[in-house]
Amino acid sequence: MKKLFTNIGQLVQVREESSAIIRGLMMSKLPTLDNAYLLIEDGIIQSYGLMADLAPIQVDETIDLLGRMIMPTFVDSHTHLVFAANREEEFVMKIKGMDYQSIADAGGGILNSAKKLQAASEDELFEAASLRLKQVIKQGTGAIEIKSGYGLTTEAEIKMLRVIARLKDEFPIPIKATFLGAHAFPHADHGKYITAIKHEMLPEIYSSGLADYIDTFCEEGYYSPEQMEDILATASKYELKPKVHVNQFNSIGGIEVAVSAGALSVDHLEVLTDDEINLLKDSDTIPVALPGCSFFINIPFSPARKMIESGLPLVLASDFNPGSAPSFNMSFINSLACIKMKLLPEEAINATTYNAAFALELEQEVGSITEGKRANFIVSKTEMTPATIAYNFGVDWIDQVYINGEEFG
Ligand code: NIG
Ligand code: FE
Repeated sequence: MKKLFTNIGQLVQVREESSAIIRGLMMSKLPTLDNAYLLIEDGIIQSYGLMADLAPIQVDETIDLLGRMIMPTFVDSHTHLVFAANREEEFVMKIKGMDYQSIADAGGGILNSAKKLQAASEDELFEAASLRLKQVIKQGTGAIEIKSGYGLTTEAEIKMLRVIARLKDEFPIPIKATFLGAHAFPHADHGKYITAIKHEMLPEIYSSGLADYIDTFCEEGYYSPEQMEDILATASKYELKPKVHVNQFNSIGGIEVAVSAGALSVDHLEVLTDDEINLLKDSDTIPVALPGCSFFINIPFSPARKMIESGLPLVLASDFNPGSAPSFNMSFINSLACIKMKLLPEEAINATTYNAAFALELEQEVGSITEGKRANFIVSKTEMTPATIAYNFGVDWIDQVYINGEEFG
């Protein structure tokens, strides 16, 4: 099945190959073709180029874009999409002046989500997560990571991971599963819970193949760097690479531990010291900022400009979850990056597409318009430029989302 898209006003993020993540000031380059065509076959990108160079070709379907834009789908490398219930009551507490930590201390937060998730059946969780994931894709996300972490017992963590495994089977986009048993402590006996993670959960997850990565929330009042180190060491015996929550509120040494453990990414980074920037520069660990969380709970935004100017690569993700970031809209993440973090629109798009694919080890499959990659791309409603995505904040600019060459939804 060959489909040809013609008269594309702007074909955004065209790359010959995905050999390396983009770092530093190179992030401001977004390769784009004006007045282009795109040829896909059996769900895979076959070729692209300028309309002026399009030779006559036999296809099954031709779609005239009449000047509209095409860009690759977003890659959302950090979400908590499986949960039992929203936490609007905490939203109201926050409006009335309470901060994230006082809400957690008052019975809200991660433990509130865990109580509800433990009581929900696997089928209920799957149905709710499926409805969300459909919306996520319709808003332009074409590859995603989903974490456990609202179970906090062996049974409930496995239940969450089984839901993610079912989503992988049912949905046409690449999905990566991350085990986040170390999200909070479910009771006062911290040693006992860490033993359960290491000696009950990890062996079972390994033998069932339910996770691709391991995560830990390293933060004051949650997991210390030493506790994270201990958990990551056991996880490495079970071949799980770390992608971890660090430096959301405090810099307590989590980045150092994560880098030494060979973490694929360190996520949050609202607080980041110069030494930590240098440490990341000398490593292959990818920094991931989550501006939706900063926006929603009113905490500082990651120093993304400084990171880019120091030569780091940058990835942006939604952190979609019911407590600190209840939105999966990656277009809005682009707006926040430009408006609040002073990224250029080109940098924001690179951080949410091409670079983001590296944070999920999916760079050969998604993230750019490249021959051989999946035909996962977004078609705009009107003629527009890539900068319009961030500029028209909150505006729905997406007409169709193609996944493996088929229109989704
Ligand atoms: O990434 N900070 C830790 N975990 C989530 C929030 C979880 C919650 O509040 O439910 C985050 O922000
Ligand atoms: Fe998170």
